[in-house]
Amino acid sequence: MKRLMTSPCAVIAAALTMAAAPAQSADPIKVGMMLPSTGTYARLGNNIKNGFKLYVQEQGGKLGGREIEYVEVDSEANPAKAIDNVNKLIKQHEVDVLLGSVHSGVALAMAKRAKESGTLMIVPNAGADKVTGPMCAPNIFRTSFSNWQPGYATGQAMAEDGHKRAITITWKYGAGEEMVKGFKASFEKAGGKVIDQLYVPFPNVEFQALLTQIAAAKPDAVFAFFAGGGAVKFVKDYAAAGLKDAFPLYGTGFLTDGTLEAQGADAEGVKTALHYADALGTPRDNAFREAYAKAYGDQPDVYAVQAYDAAQLLGIGLAATGGDVHKSAEFSAAVRAATIDSPRGQFTISKSHNPIQNFYLREVKGGVNQVVRIASEALEDPGRGCRMK
Ligand code: PHB
Repeated sequence: MKRLMTSPCAVIAAALTMAAAPAQSADPIKVGMMLPSTGTYARLGNNIKNGFKLYVQEQGGKLGGREIEYVEVDSEANPAKAIDNVNKLIKQHEVDVLLGSVHSGVALAMAKRAKESGTLMIVPNAGADKVTGPMCAPNIFRTSFSNWQPGYATGQAMAEDGHKRAITITWKYGAGEEMVKGFKASFEKAGGKVIDQLYVPFPNVEFQALLTQIAAAKPDAVFAFFAGGGAVKFVKDYAAAGLKDAFPLYGTGFLTDGTLEAQGADAEGVKTALHYADALGTPRDNAFREAYAKAYGDQPDVYAVQAYDAAQLLGIGLAATGGDVHKSAEFSAAVRAATIDSPRGQFTISKSHNPIQNFYLREVKGGVNQVVRIASEALEDPGRGCRMK
């Protein structure tokens, strides 16, 4: 600040600048990334790190005037190790922000510790409904989805396509169970019937016995949630078993996002609902995709988008609090008032801190998740059980 500013206007301007000024001299903000770098979700974890770092790089390495630095822990998508891992980040590394995770069970453990410790937490994927339900808190945010959301949107789309009898198949853990619940709610509300619900333990990929069961039951269509390596294997096995043409395969978009190269022709025609698609063609998405491809030599996917937006959300909150991660009330107010300019399309954050967003029905055509139509507009998770303090 210059010393010789004497006019009242200049003094007010200077005071305002100081009030809004980010804490320029403060230490860097430590972002603790608790993401899988091994196992079936390894690629998801990698793309989340890439997406987050891309946005920070675009801002010159700073958010809210503070340098961003990273501490990374392999979550292994293993809920049994989650409390130890998150404690390592909070106590040993003294991180300012928790970024994670991919797996719902891991995210629940992180949210518990974030709530107890007051550490700011941003979820760039895991959909565990409870995180923005009974566990909601002023310092916990999500830029991805609740599991209920893509399930519900897929049920709407399948019913609109005229299917009446469906079978669901997924991994037996929170994410799969909650997506099936969302799917069943909208599908049956629209007059459909879920005739069987099939499960495999996470992260197993032995689908054969269940595919035989599907063939015998002859449903109109099948709903599936798998992701990462498991999604690749499921889509290939479904086609190899000769089911693809007989029983149209639907799913939440994770079934075909970031996986198409590995799935090849076996994914053609699979229909999924998600808050992102490959060929949106908007200037915002085009710019993002180009920047991502240039930085990493790879195409982005929904996970990269969610993480890019997690960094945007952090930037919005830090700008409003002068770089102070502890001012939860101000941080939350700024985020809730904001419209986030995402590659997926603009979205807002609900009072339980979950995105209110459009879900696209996509179909794999020519190796791309093409938009068919909007399956559900401005879909908001009901945030059941959230009592925000
Ligand atoms: C989850 O466990 O919440 C989860 C994991 C992978 C996905 C989506 C949800 O692609």
